[in-house]
Amino acid sequence: MKSILVTGGAGFIGSHTALELLNAGYKVVVIDNLSNSKLTAISRVESLSSKKIDFYQMDLLNKKDLREVFNAYSFDAVIHFAALKAVGESVEEPLRYYRNNISGTINLCEIMQEAGVNNFVFSSSATVYGDPSQSPLTEDSELSAVNPYGQTKLTTEYLLKDLQTANPDWNVALLRYFNPVGAHESGEIGEDPSGIPNNLMPYVTQVAVGKREKLSVFGNDYPTRDGTGERDYIHVVDLAIGHLKALKKLEENPGLVVYNLGTGSGYTVLELVKTFEKINEVSVPYEIAPRRPGDAASCFADPSKAEKELGWTTERGLEEMCRDAWNWQQKNPNGY
Ligand code: NAD
Ligand code: WQD
Repeated sequence: MKSILVTGGAGFIGSHTALELLNAGYKVVVIDNLSNSKLTAISRVESLSSKKIDFYQMDLLNKKDLREVFNAYSFDAVIHFAALKAVGESVEEPLRYYRNNISGTINLCEIMQEAGVNNFVFSSSATVYGDPSQSPLTEDSELSAVNPYGQTKLTTEYLLKDLQTANPDWNVALLRYFNPVGAHESGEIGEDPSGIPNNLMPYVTQVAVGKREKLSVFGNDYPTRDGTGERDYIHVVDLAIGHLKALKKLEENPGLVVYNLGTGSGYTVLELVKTFEKINEVSVPYEIAPRRPGDAASCFADPSKAEKELGWTTERGLEEMCRDAWNWQQKNPNGY
């Protein structure tokens, strides 16, 4: 049985990926400091899969703890989700973001080297395309960072590229996620933001459930179909499955590979809101508000490389994303 270390496995994407890994027969070890997640996510994944996760509450910044975990197992690969991800917060607290996201990754890679583990899947982001002038984006599109969070992702990509160049026996998959939304169809696991959600879908579900009065639509004068921002929303279960495909790819010893994980279709804010209202038969009051600084007009993937090289395509459309996000919200009105 292959054994996978999942950092940040109690979080939104990590928990869905842990479930897919367990269902596919992998042994899963999770480390998470629970700074942005709850242990309940782990127990829900265990009951959904009827399998056990070895969970360690620890911080990637603590190298000694990390070493102990690597001494206790023989990992085939590491999937590295653990990071801080709030763009606005990263502008306020750059040092915390650089330390957590970059020092955390360096610690992890150093311990992997000590332990002779050299298969690595990294959670990158479409944020590495900066403020894209044109979509669809291919993996070769120009890279830039427009905020400290984005800079941590871009820097980590370069770090991993240099590491792999110096150590050609390493296999690294940089997975650039577009906009992950939705939840497992059971409604048992999902996205559980603390405080006021930064992202569109959790804000919409909280308005629909009555926790927030109305959605502010950030700008309606962008050069898009209806003037509101256009994004490539991807169902978190499709995204989770992408990680299993990436692990398979690493078994071919490909060196460093980069993939966009998106659907290839862009939807505007208002298209998402309308779809959510229609499929769930619920109303989402909104008002048009000023643009949010730093937002791009349009951002969507060309996912054809992942389709061709990983045999991965998304199977869940915007309606399922809206349905599953709402199911999760209704079943867990206050999160975990
Ligand atoms: P999340 O916050 O739900 O999950 C991240 C997990 O990592 C949390 O459980 C948190 O407690 C843990 N963590 C953070 N720092 C840690 C540390 N130093 N040591 C141990 N655990 C730590 O976020 P998510 O949405 O699941 O995102 C997972 C990854 O995907 C992140 O790297 C994120 O940057 C990236 N990503 C997310 C999105 C998105 O919109 N959700 C988009 C692109 C990329
Ligand atoms: C989507 C659209 C907003 C909230 C962010 C990060 C990115 C990546 C994914 C991690 C935009 C609009 C939003 C609201 C709104 N994360 N919106 N009202 O900005 O595309 O990407 O998450 O890597 O790095 O920047 O996602 O969900 O915040 O916004 O009108 O209350 O919804 O303007 O057009 P974004 P989002």
